[in-house]
Amino acid sequence: MNVIWRNCICRLRQGKAPHRCQSGVHPVAPLGSRILTDPAKVFEHNMWDHMRWSEEEEDAARKQVEENSATRVAPEEQVKFERDANKYWDTFYQTHKNKFFKNRNWLLREFPEILPVDQNSKEKVEESSDQVGSNFSSMQRTEMDCQKSRVSSAPWSEERSNFPNQDLEEHSKGPGKTERFPGSKATFRILEVGCGAGNCVFPILNTLRNIPGSFLYCCDFASEAVELVKSHASYSEAHCCAFLHDVCDDGLAYPFPDGILDVVLLVFVLSSIHPDRMQAVVDRLSRLLKPGGMLLFRDLGRYDNAQLRFKKGRCLSENFYVRGDGTRAYFFTKGEIHRMFCKAGLYEKQNLVDHRLQVNRKKQVAMHRVWVQGKFQKPLPWTQRS
Ligand SMILES: C[S@@+](CC[C@H](N)C(=O)[O-])C[C@H]1O[C@@H](n2cnc3c(N)ncnc32)[C@H](O)[C@@H]1O
Repeated sequence: MNVIWRNCICRLRQGKAPHRCQSGVHPVAPLGSRILTDPAKVFEHNMWDHMRWSEEEEDAARKQVEENSATRVAPEEQVKFERDANKYWDTFYQTHKNKFFKNRNWLLREFPEILPVDQNSKEKVEESSDQVGSNFSSMQRTEMDCQKSRVSSAPWSEERSNFPNQDLEEHSKGPGKTERFPGSKATFRILEVGCGAGNCVFPILNTLRNIPGSFLYCCDFASEAVELVKSHASYSEAHCCAFLHDVCDDGLAYPFPDGILDVVLLVFVLSSIHPDRMQAVVDRLSRLLKPGGMLLFRDLGRYDNAQLRFKKGRCLSENFYVRGDGTRAYFFTKGEIHRMFCKAGLYEKQNLVDHRLQVNRKKQVAMHRVWVQGKFQKPLPWTQRS
C-alpha cells in the first residue's frame, strides 16, 4: 500500500471527508458528483470525485517526485526521445492498435463547446432525458494513461522538399480562406490535435454527423494512428479529415487556413511534447482559431499517480518523464496552463484541477489521480485591447 493511499485511508478513518475543490473564480465543471463521505464505502465504486489532499499527502507526493527525479536520463538519450518521438508512438499503435485508451465518451458532457451553440441545448435535453434515474456521474470512467525523421509533410500535399524555394513559402501557408479545402463549406469546424486511434474522434463524429454544416479535422504525427482512424468503420470523409501532422513543426501547413476553427481539442497530447516546445505549439494552435473560438484542454496533473509511479532514472527534466516504451509524459499545474494559454492570446474561461480517487476493487487498492482541465477562448476583435 503506498504512502499516499495510507494517508488517504487514515484521513478517511479520522472522518475528515474530502470536499469539493473550487478553482479560483471560475465555475467548477460538471466533473462528477460521486463524493466519498463514508470511508467504509471506499471500495463500493471504481472512482470518487473531488478528492482533496491533506498536507501530509501533498508532502509525501512531493518527496516521491523529488526522489524519482533525482537521476536524469543522459542528454544523448534525451535527444533520441525527442528526435524519434513519432516513431515511439507509431510503435505504440502498432502494438496496441485501438485497444489501449477507452473512448472518451465524457467529452461532450465536459466540453459542450464541441457542439454548435444551437445544437448544444438540444443535446442537453436529450442527454438529461437519457440519464433519468441512471445515477450517472460524468467523467468517472477511468482514463487510462494510458523526429527528426518526424513527419515531413502532410498526406494531402506533395513532399515539401519537392517544391522550388519560391513555391515553398506559398505552399507552407496552406489554402487561403476563399479556396476550396476539406470542410471549406462547413460552418462549424473542430480540430483534434494528437487524435491517436480516435478515442475522441468517434464519440464526436457520432454526434456531429447529424449536425449539418459541422466538420471535424484530426491529426497525429504517428502514421499508424492516422491509419487506424481512417480505416475505422465510422470514418467518413464527408464529415472528417484525418491527416498526418507534427504540431511541433511550425513550418508545416494545415489543410485549412488560419482563423477558421471554432474548437481546438487538446486531450492528453501536450503532456507528450517537450516542455521547451509547448508554448510554440499553443501559439500556433491559437492562430488556427477564429475569434470567439475555444481551445479545450485536458491532461495529466502534478502528482498524479502516474507521476509518482515512475522509477528513478526515467526523469528527463522537472516533471517530465519517459515511459518504458519511449513515449513521454509531463505533469502540469493549472498555473502553468494559465500562463501558457494566456501568453498565446487566449482568455481563461475554465481552469481546474480534477482530483479523483481511483479504486481497484479486485486488488483493494486506491490511487490518487490528478488531471488539469481548461477552456480558453480567443478574444473577439472588439474585446481585444488596442
Ligand atoms: C496519450 S495519446 C492521446 C490520444 C487522444 N487524444 C486521446 O485522447 O485518446 C497522445 C497522442 O498525441 C500524439 N502526439 C504526440 N506528440 C505529437 C505531435 N508533436 N504532433 C502530433 N501528434 C502528437 C501521439 O502520437 C498520440 O497519439
